[in-house]
Amino acid sequence: SKSFKVAVLPGDGIGPEVMAEALQVLDAVEKKYDVRFERTFANVGGAGIDLEGKALPQTTVDICKASDAILFGSVGGPKWESLPPDEQPERGALLPLRKIFGLYANLRPAIIFPALTGASSLKEEVIAGGFNVLVVRELTGGIYFSQPKGIEGQGRERIGIDTMRYSVPEIERITHVAFQAARKRDKRVMSIDKANVLSTSVLWREVVETVAKEYPDVKLSHMYVDNAAMQLVRWPKQFDVILCENMFGDILSDEAAMLTGSLGMLPSASLAEGSFGMYEPSGGSAPDIAGQGIANPIAQILSASMMLRYSFALVEAADAIDAAVEKVLNQGLRTGDIFQDRPGERKVNTKEMGAAIVAAL
Ligand code: NAD
Ligand code: IPM
Ligand code: MN
Repeated sequence: SKSFKVAVLPGDGIGPEVMAEALQVLDAVEKKYDVRFERTFANVGGAGIDLEGKALPQTTVDICKASDAILFGSVGGPKWESLPPDEQPERGALLPLRKIFGLYANLRPAIIFPALTGASSLKEEVIAGGFNVLVVRELTGGIYFSQPKGIEGQGRERIGIDTMRYSVPEIERITHVAFQAARKRDKRVMSIDKANVLSTSVLWREVVETVAKEYPDVKLSHMYVDNAAMQLVRWPKQFDVILCENMFGDILSDEAAMLTGSLGMLPSASLAEGSFGMYEPSGGSAPDIAGQGIANPIAQILSASMMLRYSFALVEAADAIDAAVEKVLNQGLRTGDIFQDRPGERKVNTKEMGAAIVAAL
């Protein structure tokens, strides 16, 4: 039987709660298909700081390096917010992981399940017939990583510095990812930029245009990011693939998530060249609901499904997980974030939702 090595990094807040459910789903996949997921747990984020003195311990990096993929929960929380920025969970662990493993392509599919039409923040007539948006976010460049960066000076003389840089090869490779994804979908790419203000965006637009010539079957359009934020809530169906730089993608993907009902629904795949990837919900550690056992595990479960699809080529099993999620939503099960108290809906907690998805598999 096939066997894959998975580094499991639950992290902080709701991370361990939703991870437990995703792991049950992997157990169910093992029972149903001839496949094994060899799991190694590692500490990351606040858990890394508390247990090993560092947000990203070397042991964790080594475990990830020895694996075929990383299944990541979420990191961060109030407990670690007063540490020096570079030691905090986000800048000390999540961003370095993305950089170390070259995870430059972040795919965030925002799809409205018919059963959740009422949970979307949009009017039902706007989303009637559904929408299916894939945010392709550049993940290892731009303002998140470029130098110089930091706070210089003393007292009121201090200045905070962030720099946004993009090289031609960085723009080229993420553009190829977007166009190749579009080919398997509705063959439309909307490239997002702020070319009326930012030099990185002027270069971005030029490089995207050039790469697009290799994909004459895909329609390319451009949109400024402020307009895109508005168009997403106005009429999401106009979008197929949304291609954007790191920070624009961060912001627009949270917005797209809410259109599907909740941030707790949006999975993501962070891919490197080749088959290695890290799979993480788009949302965070949700300190406001952590420890209560009420978080929505679906983003984590769908992230595991993306791992099977993109890193392990287990398409049938991935399809089965996605179908099980849809079935359970159709049965009316809802965690608090997607609960509308409509006829046929039943409010469940994290474990009940996970168990129902396992049963549906
Ligand atoms: P957040 O995504 O954690 O939460 C935003 C809102 O969405 C909250 O109301 C939360 O309850 C809700 N939410 C998110 N996921 C949910 C789920 N699965 N089920 C139900 N509700 C859910 O964002 P935030 O509050 O801005 O950040 C909290 C912490 O998480 C911060 O430390 C932040 O840096 C970190 N963060 C980490 C990641 C990551 O690890 N990938 C991503 C985003 C934020
Ligand atoms: C995300 C998160 C991260 C990001 C933070 C926690 C560094 O918001 O994965 O969307 O901004 O990329
Ligand atoms: Mn984000």
